[in-house]
Amino acid sequence: MSEQLIEVVDNAGIVRLTINRPKALNALNSAVLSELERVLAELEARDDLRAVLVTGAGEKSFVAGADIAEMRTKTPEEARAFARQALATLKRLETLPVPTVALVNGFCLGGGCELALACDWAVASDNAIFGQPEVLLGVIPGFGGTQRLPRRVGPAMALDLCTTGRKIDAAEALRIGLVNRVMPQAELEAYAEELTKQLGGNGPQSVRASKQAIHDGMDQDLDSALALETALFAFCFAGDEQTEGMSAFVEKRKPNF
Ligand code: CAA
Repeated sequence: MSEQLIEVVDNAGIVRLTINRPKALNALNSAVLSELERVLAELEARDDLRAVLVTGAGEKSFVAGADIAEMRTKTPEEARAFARQALATLKRLETLPVPTVALVNGFCLGGGCELALACDWAVASDNAIFGQPEVLLGVIPGFGGTQRLPRRVGPAMALDLCTTGRKIDAAEALRIGLVNRVMPQAELEAYAEELTKQLGGNGPQSVRASKQAIHDGMDQDLDSALALETALFAFCFAGDEQTEGMSAFVEKRKPNF
């Protein structure tokens, strides 16, 4: 049997996805993107999904970008189709209804950085390297980087990274808000697993509602976004989760979600 390009490990709705092309530093080619989209389409339909962790195989690289060898001979039309395929896949990841965590264990460049930007969290090893080096190849980011990066780190820093193509270390990535936490590589695995378990153990309805309020609200004016928050806040009172959460507090016990 051929090796799977995306490894899926499912532990009671807490799912770990591993991009598995370590010999090419997990570069994203069409085959990887197709497989990732197929896996995400299956996940988004699941009511029991709690949290998703995304990482790259091996200790050297999360994802070193879109596959340069595959892109090298593309025509503009082929490049457009490739970018659209990637954008659709990353949109699926971004809009999964549960928290997503990028576990960045090494190079996180170009399309790899764009993959991490489509996740809610990024936790990185202290030797991780980030960047949007596309200008060094004569192109621009094509998997959403020019739009998601400024939304995450602000337009000035996004312009800096996209126009210089410079690489930054994990400490700078933390300082500019590109990642949430940085850990020694030996501790990263355990930390990310624990974080994902914790996210998955909180009330699933309220975690999904939090993500929806923040994601959907960001694209709206403040008053509409606040109305969305109120609607979702009220919705939380319609199920068992709020009764259990508040009863557990009053009864001085842990909630059972
Ligand atoms: N595409 C295809 N193959 C890649 C790759 C990529 N993005 N990155 C690394 N590889 C391959 C290398 O070609 C090499 O393959 P071979 O062993 O067959 O020669 C293998 O992975 C190991 O890489 P290196 O020997 O280069 O490893 P290194 O430790 O010397 O350097 C690196 C590591 C600095 C990450 C270097 O590989 C590198 O600069 N990679 C390219 C990074 C990059 O420019 N990414 C952006 C791509 S463009 C993009 O992503 C556009 C977009 O938005 C759509």
